[in-house]
Amino acid sequence: MERRIEHYGSSQKILLVGEGDFSFSVCLARAFRRATNMVATSLDSRESLREKHWSCASHLNQLKQRGCLVLHDVDVHDMDQHYILRRMKFDVIIFNFPHAGHYPGLRESHHQLIEMHKQLLSGFFASARVMLRFGGEVHVTARDDYPYNTWDVEELAAEEGLILTERVWFDKSDYPGYHNKRGGGINSNKKFPLRDSYTFKFMINY
Ligand SMILES: C[S@@+](CC[C@H](N)C(=O)[O-])C[C@H]1O[C@@H](n2cnc3c(N)ncnc32)[C@H](O)[C@@H]1O
Repeated sequence: MERRIEHYGSSQKILLVGEGDFSFSVCLARAFRRATNMVATSLDSRESLREKHWSCASHLNQLKQRGCLVLHDVDVHDMDQHYILRRMKFDVIIFNFPHAGHYPGLRESHHQLIEMHKQLLSGFFASARVMLRFGGEVHVTARDDYPYNTWDVEELAAEEGLILTERVWFDKSDYPGYHNKRGGGINSNKKFPLRDSYTFKFMINY
């Protein structure tokens, strides 16, 4: 029997990238009961993840118990070359609240930081595209207010051959247990305001 939560189902092969404390992955895994259909990844190594997010230890245990493959040190720029991932194809690839990091003196509206965010997304779209099964989708959840809307997510995806199929309001309460994390800087484990957030869904433009 297929189990579902929002856009996601237990019959889909799902890749999650750029996870923070892995609470979003756990939320899906709980909804599916078994998580053998999921691969959950972080850019951080297991050690630095523990320093950033004390809450991740129990999440990683829960994922393991439910049969989820968890990988660390996965960079979205070259994840399609990763020694395990390169052999896999996915129905859905999820990147929630991509962010290139926090740097002293660089506000979110600074053009240099915006350029870094855009490069992160372009790299992600380029490698995600080749990891999709036929009919698969790439989901990016991001804020759509200023200055985040200047990233122009739709255009970046189009440059990598992906077209926007839907833009759906993101409500955190739809994902019980999910804690959005800043993921960088001294306040890594803190959450950030989820104003005007949407899940942007993309497919290959055949
Ligand atoms: C704002 S945090 C969001 C974390 C998590 N997805 C969430 O929703 O709580 C941004 C995340 O992007 C990740 N990230 C930044 N650059 C990345 C890259 N090149 N490859 C993979 N993840 C990256 C960071 O490690 C961080 O966890």
